[in-house]
Amino acid sequence: MCGIVGYVGPKDCSDVLVSALTKLEYRGYDSAGIAVFDNSEIKTVKTKGKLKDLEDKLVETGKPEGHVGIGHTRWATHGEPSDVNSHPHSGARVTIVHNGIIENYIELKEFLTSKGRTFISDTDTEVIAQLLDYKYNGNPLETISSVMAELKGSFALGIMFRDFPDRVFAVRRESPLIVGVAKGECFIASDVPAILKYTKNYYLLDHDEIATLTKDGAAFVDKHLAPVQKDLKTADWDMEAAEKGGYPHFMIKEIYEQPTAIKTTVIPRIKDGLPCLEECGITLEKIKDFKNIAIVACGTAMHAGMVGKYVIESLARVPVTVDIASEFRYRDPIIGKGDLVIIISQSGETADSLAALRLAKQTGAVTLAIVNAKGSSIAREADMLIYTLAGPEIAVASTKAYITQLSVMYLFAFELALAKQTISTDECKRLVSSLLKMPDAVQNIIDNCEEKCKYIATKLITADNLLYIGRGLDYALSMEGSLKLKEVSYIHSESYAAGELKHGTISLIDDGMPVIAVATQSAIIAKTISNIVEVKSRGAKVILVCTDVCARDLNDGIADHIIEMPHSEELLMPITAVVPLQLLAYYTSVDRGIDPDKPRNLAKSVTVE
Ligand code: AGP
Repeated sequence: MCGIVGYVGPKDCSDVLVSALTKLEYRGYDSAGIAVFDNSEIKTVKTKGKLKDLEDKLVETGKPEGHVGIGHTRWATHGEPSDVNSHPHSGARVTIVHNGIIENYIELKEFLTSKGRTFISDTDTEVIAQLLDYKYNGNPLETISSVMAELKGSFALGIMFRDFPDRVFAVRRESPLIVGVAKGECFIASDVPAILKYTKNYYLLDHDEIATLTKDGAAFVDKHLAPVQKDLKTADWDMEAAEKGGYPHFMIKEIYEQPTAIKTTVIPRIKDGLPCLEECGITLEKIKDFKNIAIVACGTAMHAGMVGKYVIESLARVPVTVDIASEFRYRDPIIGKGDLVIIISQSGETADSLAALRLAKQTGAVTLAIVNAKGSSIAREADMLIYTLAGPEIAVASTKAYITQLSVMYLFAFELALAKQTISTDECKRLVSSLLKMPDAVQNIIDNCEEKCKYIATKLITADNLLYIGRGLDYALSMEGSLKLKEVSYIHSESYAAGELKHGTISLIDDGMPVIAVATQSAIIAKTISNIVEVKSRGAKVILVCTDVCARDLNDGIADHIIEMPHSEELLMPITAVVPLQLLAYYTSVDRGIDPDKPRNLAKSVTVE
């Protein structure tokens, strides 16, 4: 959560910081601030509210004029969103911005208070600023290193020392941080899109490394202050990919980008009509002996794992458990040597998923990461890695990352089934060929269902509660539909296995309550239809998402609205059927006057527990 940036160079620092922060607002947007060396004084401007409020305040107060500075956009953890809790925070000789959580901040605060220090905010960050100031010995690197030794938890910090007006320092543990470089200037940022306007070249700061940024370049040391040589990376995302490109919101842009995202993810992993994951470190030989698989992730990524479970079990006949990462890490899971643990994450930095990965490695299980953000912690630490090549996903609500996570789950399931010899090469080729048709199938749904979804959304906006139902793969998918709707529209919604309704939940149904039923699997369509009839006869307004084949057998009046999709390979239907669910969520959000890209209380990357 939170985005941090920093700049040293010839440009107007305030402008660069604000512009870079606009690309990180997805990480938090309840307050923002910058601090810039202005005539050798550190001048700080910060405010509660969105970046726009900071921009207004900069106009009001006059922006700091200078060439060295740091900035922050906040997702509150310690202390409510307020001017005083906004970053940057300062001690007498030091000013910092922070992303992460300091677990021992109360002890440190008590210690500093006993030394006569006073605090003006409720944040854990101010404790770091005060501790840096308390320990300051005239040498910034020694001071930072000695403070790092005292801190427990996660942090990425941008630091300015009053005595060093020509430089910014940066350090990270757990929380992500990159250092961008161009001729005569340097940047820090929590994520690559923040610097793309200025440079594509960057270094990934590793755990407990400290960077010093000056106009002459970036230098790195480890926590013992020994110099570190780092590889320069080049971003393969361009600015346009990280911008809205004419769309009103990133969410709809990213929904539209899904056909391309699937193509980009799948095509390079196909050879002679079969999956080829060798570049990801996966061969038939390497995966043929796994007896159990655990998929661990959070939120949407976990829902992709739910689909993965159905597909892997059905094709490769290997038992799969799916866990929420925050549960998995504390429940002493039964995994070990001979097992495979798959971690799915768009950001590759989700704190619970990263902890789950580390736990899995300790048990001796082999780990496979399915990650979108290149070079992220999860990507770097897993034994095997398949990147979802979705490009930057900016909207908080995940769409194209989910669809590419599904695509990778299918590729992996096909490969595993081949390795286990539970499907023939011909069958695998047939499935791969169906997967290759998915980009067109998704495009077809965007082209033909969007208007209907827009219309149906106008019927949902007044709902207080909503149910999503489905069976099997449709149930796994309805979980994602429900999450998407609730996170961007603030309408309470739950997903339920359709057959389980009458064991309690059906009592919630009353006159006019919307129920979104997903029915794409012909083998169980009759069962789902019975459940639809049960809710309809109790007053529910049913929106049915189904294939044209399923629609053929429906009685008139079974649903109030039907979103009909062309039938395709049923095992792959979640890839296409998620699209109307995403569009329904998007338009309901917009119709309710909500900004779907920045839903309240949420942040894109959850780098705290
Ligand atoms: C869904 O729209 C959310 N963005 C959220 O559930 C997300 O999938 C979850 O926080 C996991 O994030 P990750 O994929 O970056 O690990």
